[in-house]
Amino acid sequence: MFRQISLIVFAILFLSACSKETPEVDDYDPARDYFTFANTDAFVTEHLVLDLDVDFEAEEFRGLAILTMRRLDPEASEIILDTRDLTIAGASVLTAGNAEPAEHRFGETHATLGTPLVITVPAGTGEKFDLVIEYKTSPESSALQWLPPELTAGGKFPMVFSQSQAVHARSWVPLQDTPALRITYEATVRTPEALLAVMSANNDPLTPRTGEYHFEMPQPIPSYLLAIAVGNFYFAPLGEDTGIYSEPELLDASVYEFADTQAMLELAEEMYGPYDWGRYDLLVLPPSFPYGGMENPRLSFITPSLLAGDRSLVSVIAHELAHSWSGNLVTNATWRDGWLNEGMTSYIESRLMEVIYDRNRVDEERVLMYRELLLDLEEVPEHMQALAPRLDDTTSEDFQGGIHYSKGQMFLEYLENEFGREAFDAFLEAYFQEFAFGTITTEGFLDFLELKLLSQEGASVTREQAEQWTYGPALPESAIVPESENLAIAASMAQAWAGGEMELVDVPVADWSPQATIHFINSLPDDISFEKLGELDAGWGLSDTRNAEIGRTWFIQVATRRYTDAYDELEAHLNRYGRGRLIAPVYRALAQNGEDRDLAREMFERARGAYHPITVGWIAGGFEDEE
Ligand code: BES
Ligand code: ZN
Repeated sequence: MFRQISLIVFAILFLSACSKETPEVDDYDPARDYFTFANTDAFVTEHLVLDLDVDFEAEEFRGLAILTMRRLDPEASEIILDTRDLTIAGASVLTAGNAEPAEHRFGETHATLGTPLVITVPAGTGEKFDLVIEYKTSPESSALQWLPPELTAGGKFPMVFSQSQAVHARSWVPLQDTPALRITYEATVRTPEALLAVMSANNDPLTPRTGEYHFEMPQPIPSYLLAIAVGNFYFAPLGEDTGIYSEPELLDASVYEFADTQAMLELAEEMYGPYDWGRYDLLVLPPSFPYGGMENPRLSFITPSLLAGDRSLVSVIAHELAHSWSGNLVTNATWRDGWLNEGMTSYIESRLMEVIYDRNRVDEERVLMYRELLLDLEEVPEHMQALAPRLDDTTSEDFQGGIHYSKGQMFLEYLENEFGREAFDAFLEAYFQEFAFGTITTEGFLDFLELKLLSQEGASVTREQAEQWTYGPALPESAIVPESENLAIAASMAQAWAGGEMELVDVPVADWSPQATIHFINSLPDDISFEKLGELDAGWGLSDTRNAEIGRTWFIQVATRRYTDAYDELEAHLNRYGRGRLIAPVYRALAQNGEDRDLAREMFERARGAYHPITVGWIAGGFEDEE
């Protein structure tokens, strides 16, 4: 599993591992979500009320989930909910004020899907009713990381935060855990008095710290966007509708780094239509947050590894903000359609970055992305190289790499180029309007594309060509290959310096973007000597870099080439970060260099206590796969 370079790689692999249960190829239904037990054809949830005590000693949430449900099938008498590692104390059904106990039992546990909770609906239950479930989470909840004070920036208070995408909401709330449904929610959360709770809902920056917090989320969202964090958080404004929550120790640095968030928001609204969610805030978490960012509505969760001090990594903010349209407003119907979330978001991210910063910077990022995509394509089996692959009975070899992201982005860039920016922007704005607060399949997207653009007279793209992107392997020939002059120069200087034709002091690295530095490191020839690597490390301070992406790139090279002089710093890198993208490929490079598998395991054993359960799953799974 170490092959995965992009984070989502892991998510997809993880999901496809469970698809052994899926039916024979002939029965494959692309519109069905294979990653839920919920019988959503019989019952659907419309609203959720949470009433939770956050207990740091027991490392559990305890309380009630009340699901307002509607019966679609008059014959159905059992509701199946998704759960994972939850303890259920009891269930009852409320119809028109009458409470009736409801029988419940667990079905068989599945490694990826968790455990179905089957609830028998009492006779006489109406078409619309409230299902009340009393429950608690387990300290092993896959969504939640319980951090002792030592793992926080301040070191004084504990913290807990969630990561629900893709299938982890069920490990902290019993529910129908599928992106195909949308719910509104409200929550009451009780915490230790010194701490603040925030959710993917209407956080009020002025909330007094009382230890009891109330939230409302009036816009309907899919379950994977349910999010909560409790910690020593404080707020600082960025702009009129934007701000940052973080521990006080990180607040100033975050305000500096993410100062352009308000401008990004205003630009995105101009380009793609109104931001329908109220405020847009960021929550900057400790280093163990497993992703770069997570687009929890109204409150994106962000890794502190973006705090490079020079705003060079803020494309992740543009990305999470862009999800407010692509993903949160219009949601992939199933995880198989994930490119409609991630590819479209990556496309919009680039468009925003181009205006807020400049085209050169975006081209640099595109070139780096393209390089990673080519590496992914070498690893991903052909049938998983489609934007919308069949997530059916594939083996654990099957994963998608950054294909949803990069190939998805390149598909949209191709369409933009064919139809022109103006027409394509209008298309996207119409798409968001048409499907707002709904879900979309790949086929639904293609139909809308055909209606609005492909069927126009003189259109230069046929449905067949579009389907080559969505269903075909690799990259169609029509793909526009990214180019960057700056990065081309960096690559040729890497060759020249390695070949002894140039002195390191003459490489103008001080004038370069981190992206150019990354490209230089990636362009070093295979046979470069350790002496040269030492010179580079000493000259540029690579082993001590503050830039997490440069560190990632450097330590992948260090591990691949067995440059053992920098192994202490490599281990420090593995301990400094918990974001999968920054560490998983380093473990992988170490485990695969022919000598250091055991060392990689030892380093993992020393570091894993600080990692989020999701990250531990990826890396431990990687070791198993390699055996
Ligand atoms: N929604 C994703 C994170 C995710 C994807 C979680 C799939 C679980 C399953 C988030 O928006 C994301 O893409 N994060 C990237 C950001 C990057 C591509 C700019 C990350 O974490 O690296
Ligand atoms: Zn994303």
